[in-house]
Amino acid sequence: MSFDKRASTWDASSRRQELAKAVADKIKSSGLLNPGISLLDVGAGTGLLARRLLPYVAKITGVDSSKGMIDEFSKIGENAVAIHSDILEYDSTSLYGGIVSSMTMHHIEDIDALFAKLFSLLEPGGFITMADLEKEDGSFHDGGNEGVYHFGFDEESLKAALLKAGFEKISLERVYEVEKEKRSYPVFLLTARKPDGR
Ligand SMILES: C[S@@+](CC[C@H](N)C(=O)[O-])C[C@H]1O[C@@H](n2cnc3c(N)ncnc32)[C@H](O)[C@@H]1O
Repeated sequence: MSFDKRASTWDASSRRQELAKAVADKIKSSGLLNPGISLLDVGAGTGLLARRLLPYVAKITGVDSSKGMIDEFSKIGENAVAIHSDILEYDSTSLYGGIVSSMTMHHIEDIDALFAKLFSLLEPGGFITMADLEKEDGSFHDGGNEGVYHFGFDEESLKAALLKAGFEKISLERVYEVEKEKRSYPVFLLTARKPDGR
């Protein structure tokens, strides 16, 4: 899947805008954000999620493996930092108070490695809050499934992977349903904490 080629027209989709708004609204109402917090957005894309959260936090660092997407992200605001990198190869000199993400997990094959990496990038007591598809039949990506490693996720496997990485206080909630071709694809938002003192 070439995100580079799709970057310039990515934001034109009202479906993507509405999904990002639903995820952002849920995160904003969760009480997780504060004006001093520094966030990491994983697979930040053009910034559909981050630009809706920027006014409520100190800084958002977006990491994305697509140069085209992260170049668009770099334009979203002064307190946004764009990093062109695979998240699994990203090393940071400072830790984050929270990690957000929308619709990126299904593009990352090794979920155990992803959660271990995110755990290592968080301050003790920090949170992750990540949206993605519930289990689907492979029909969501109508342009083909190249670069799609998971046809959505089931709650039990995700919880097991999060526990294995060391997270606690894990919850999942349905936040949106993408309507496409007369079908409905539910989207969850998972939230978990890195324990204090680790
Ligand atoms: C479906 S898009 C979602 C973009 C954005 N979060 C949004 O909601 O519009 C998935 C994004 O994840 C990025 N991505 C995929 N695998 C990645 C990886 N291993 N590390 C960093 N970014 C990745 C892609 O380049 C793409 O921009």
